Amino acid sequence: MAETTEVKKGLAGVVADESAISNVIPEKRALYYRGYPVHELAEQCRFEEVAYLLLYGELPTRAQLEAFEQEERRQRELDETVHHLLRLIHTDAAPMDVLRTAVSLIGANDPEATGADLDTIRRKAIGLLAKLPTIVAADRRRRHGLDFIPPREDLTFAENFFHMYFGEVPDPEVVKAFDVSLILYAEHSFNASTFTARVITSTLSDYYSAITGAIGALKGPLHGGANEEVMRMLKPFRSPDEARQWVQDALARKQKIMGFGHRVYRYGDSRVPIMERYTRRLAERLGYQELMAIYDAIQEVVVQQKGIHPNLDYPTGPAYYMMGFDIETYTPIFVISRITGWSAHVMEQLADNRIIRPLSRYVGPPERSVPPLDARG
Ligand code: SDX
Repeated sequence: MAETTEVKKGLAGVVADESAISNVIPEKRALYYRGYPVHELAEQCRFEEVAYLLLYGELPTRAQLEAFEQEERRQRELDETVHHLLRLIHTDAAPMDVLRTAVSLIGANDPEATGADLDTIRRKAIGLLAKLPTIVAADRRRRHGLDFIPPREDLTFAENFFHMYFGEVPDPEVVKAFDVSLILYAEHSFNASTFTARVITSTLSDYYSAITGAIGALKGPLHGGANEEVMRMLKPFRSPDEARQWVQDALARKQKIMGFGHRVYRYGDSRVPIMERYTRRLAERLGYQELMAIYDAIQEVVVQQKGIHPNLDYPTGPAYYMMGFDIETYTPIFVISRITGWSAHVMEQLADNRIIRPLSRYVGPPERSVPPLDARG
């Protein structure tokens, strides 16, 4: 490779392939799923409609939505092998590790795991879409010594998650805020976890290996793990002044503030205004004004002092906290949504595949000959 070829660390700014799934336009702070503006999808659709859009390429008709919901709802139950796995894994294991292991087990036991035609992949995707929430909820209940609550087929995707997690379904306004977070988390072009899924798919490995790898990538605090770190950062503060002082000190120490910054959005994450509106409504309704004053204080300092804007994880962390979810289950919630985007990208990679294999520039020792063992000093 020519010495003059510029290294693009982190593949920053590299256009690695074409994709018809989502379009991120930083200059317009806009995001489109299959051509539809994400703020319109968030306001007018339920998550199931957006899942269908990502997996099939079009919004469903009423009849298509009903059939899709039936296919998803009838697969929410876990078979005994997954329940057995949940009994084997330590209750202090990271929920993302439990999720990653469960997907691996489901894949290992799927006789059709290596099926690479798009209909087979789509069927598996709907199977995981149905089961992942049950796994997340079942894992959380076992950590608290609570009985497993089986899924219900008469509830929507979002309602059923609350039912399995808490044993009850909250007000429709809380369910809507959760559903909006799922729509906003569903897809975001070549982010690290999606690209991981595409790299694994590009070798013609199997669907479950691609999703297992994507879960591993999303776990990192620089990526999906940030929504948990946001809440761990906000929770200890007792006042906006305390928070302001802390973040000024942190920035002075060159510390990364979780929930801020983005590789692609330099003027602000297109999803934040939508999610923040629902987070503020929740705070008003549930009495978390103090938390939001701390939230605003930190945002004010980071934007003013560093010119860095919040990403989707910043408003979503507090929203999940107000909904009552355990902090360590926030990133697993990101997974139960992003399984749709990941699966769409697996199918797209397979449809027009070439193994993904970038170059590296060698900067190690110059050529030298091997000394005999005894002559190595
Ligand atoms: C997600 O890609 C996607 O689309 C991801 C995602 C999706 O939907 O899939 O949007 C989801 O992962 C959102 C990001 C969640 N991560 C965080 O909130 C973690 C905190 N953010 C940073 O670690 C960082 O902003 C990244 C990882 C998001 C982006 O990293 P980049 O593009 O490599 O930016 P960088 O680290 O090179 O930073 C550029 C400059 C640096 O300053 P200088 O050294 O040039 O002076 O900006 C500073 C950084 O120090 N900076 C921050 C900062 N993020 C960048 N300074 C303080 N706090 C931050 N959060």
